[in-house]
Amino acid sequence: MTAYHFPSEFVAELRDCADIVEVVGDYVALVKSGANHKGCCPFHREKTPSFMVHREKRIFHCFGCGVGGDVITFLMKVEQLSYPEAVERLARRCGMDLSPYERGGGAVDSGDRHVSRRQELSAVVARANQFYCRQLERELDGRVGEYLDRRGISHEVARKFGLGYAPPGWDTLRRAIKSARDLDNAVAAGLLVQKDSGRLYDRFRDRLLFPIRDAAGTVVGFGGRIIGDGEPKYLNSSDSPLFQKRRLLYDLAHAKHAIAREQLAIVVEGYMDALTLYAHGIDNVVATLGTALTGDHLRVLGRYGRQAAVFFDNDEAGLRAAFRSLPTFLEAGVMPEVISLPEGVKDPDQLVRERGIEALSSCLRQRISLLDRYVAVREAENRGASVGRRRELLREVVDVVARIPDQVLAGLALRGVAERFGVSEEMVTGLFRRARRRPRSAAGRQPEVPTTEAGNDWTSLTELDPEEYYVMLVLRHPGMPVVDEELRSLLGQKLPRRLLELYAEVDGDREALLPRLAAEDHDHGAELQALYTRLELFPAPESGAAIDRELADCRLLLERRHLRREVEEINRRIRSCADEDDLTGLLRRKMEMVQRHRR
Ligand code: UTP
Ligand code: MN
Repeated sequence: MTAYHFPSEFVAELRDCADIVEVVGDYVALVKSGANHKGCCPFHREKTPSFMVHREKRIFHCFGCGVGGDVITFLMKVEQLSYPEAVERLARRCGMDLSPYERGGGAVDSGDRHVSRRQELSAVVARANQFYCRQLERELDGRVGEYLDRRGISHEVARKFGLGYAPPGWDTLRRAIKSARDLDNAVAAGLLVQKDSGRLYDRFRDRLLFPIRDAAGTVVGFGGRIIGDGEPKYLNSSDSPLFQKRRLLYDLAHAKHAIAREQLAIVVEGYMDALTLYAHGIDNVVATLGTALTGDHLRVLGRYGRQAAVFFDNDEAGLRAAFRSLPTFLEAGVMPEVISLPEGVKDPDQLVRERGIEALSSCLRQRISLLDRYVAVREAENRGASVGRRRELLREVVDVVARIPDQVLAGLALRGVAERFGVSEEMVTGLFRRARRRPRSAAGRQPEVPTTEAGNDWTSLTELDPEEYYVMLVLRHPGMPVVDEELRSLLGQKLPRRLLELYAEVDGDREALLPRLAAEDHDHGAELQALYTRLELFPAPESGAAIDRELADCRLLLERRHLRREVEEINRRIRSCADEDDLTGLLRRKMEMVQRHRR
């Protein structure tokens, strides 16, 4: 058997690529249930499902027996594998190339470190990018330059975004690539296409190329706009280990600082929209790559800012896309906003170009809650509709509201719905309860799962004690507050405290946390993972402000508890104290404490 050595970045990439729902789905029948998938736990006997898998968070947790972890932990447990065995199995499943990690062989870079597949692919993409940039420079005086002018892209902006141009030939890029290994990599990275005959040809021909970068600024692929008319209008790199449309956001590497500063991410539909807004000084803007917004996208955005607004095209499709994103936002615990375009303007790009920055600023100022907009539009449809259709609309709206994890916010939203639709609150609450119990698929409807036995229901299982609750809040807090000494002393329980310490150790990076927990020694590591996954699945308060408030409240509670415990301890010592001097000292300390308590 081949022995492997997997660098941690390879494992991180593997975790990214592997779909935990699919992997677990090989062993457990899973049914979608809200943001989770639910099934019967393979690690203990149960008849009603309490085993949860969360795709975006990439974790599983059983609320029956308390195990939890990531996709690698799962494989280790279910197949009784060692860690490297589980990684190997998973990597093969994902079609990742293992050869560079064979012990004593494989690709080695100058620093004698193993080069990951990802690095190899991004190297070839980076070189292609330079190649395409040079092509653009050469064409600036000709047809391509004219196109840029017509679209109002200055040469300065073109350079700033590293725009490129793919010439019309079938093999311009291919001929520029010399080694066989690089040709392979260019195919894997989706830059070259292999014909059945084995011939290679360029994927991008006669297109203006928008390089697409990951959050760190590494070019991972391209979006290509046809120059002039033709189909398809836009062509993207195909998905690869390097390039995944459901995770990537155009221009995030630029925008992330601005998003953190404004605490707002503006999401547009097109590359051109992002580019034009940026050129006009609005830089907290990202674009999706021609796909719907996913939970992955939101998880990424959530690292930088807590609020998000969609700014989509002013047409049916744009509105539909906005509404379709709403449940995704709500499940991610974000109350999104929507920015609307004035009539007659098709997209943000056209707005700025034709009506100027003033018009843009005024649009941005007038952003409103996407949920409100959605409810308003559905309610307008409701007026004058048939009774059957009205019931359908109300159901649909309540289903969406039911995705809001925060009870209070969901309650408020429901009241709004009842008012708008002119029906009683009891009625919408009834629909709401049913919607919450009903598992959902992306499409909306799903068969019912067996209802849970009494005492084994999801809410009672998720209850957290105050220390756990506190740690959960810290984990969800964008920009972690410091874990100070005092707090450590307040957290009396070993596990929650250790979890926070390790969280501080990985610098508040939730992505890095699970692997770090797994690295703790055996049982302890398993317990920590189980606690972490349980906290991750807990529905947290929605807004940053709410989290702040709850953190403060929770801290107060913990302080009180801590003090009470100390006072009890002193009382005990007072009762058993024989020495009068000691007694005086103890009484004084008790008085001090009680005074501190009152403050
Ligand atoms: P639009 O067609 O609205 O793009 O598609 P746009 O920016 O207004 O295009 P211009 O102004 O005509 O150049 C929005 C986004 O949808 C994706 C692309 O990501 C594009 O930026 N798209 C569109 C595709 O992936 N393929 C297509 O054929 C069209
Ligand atoms: Mn558009």
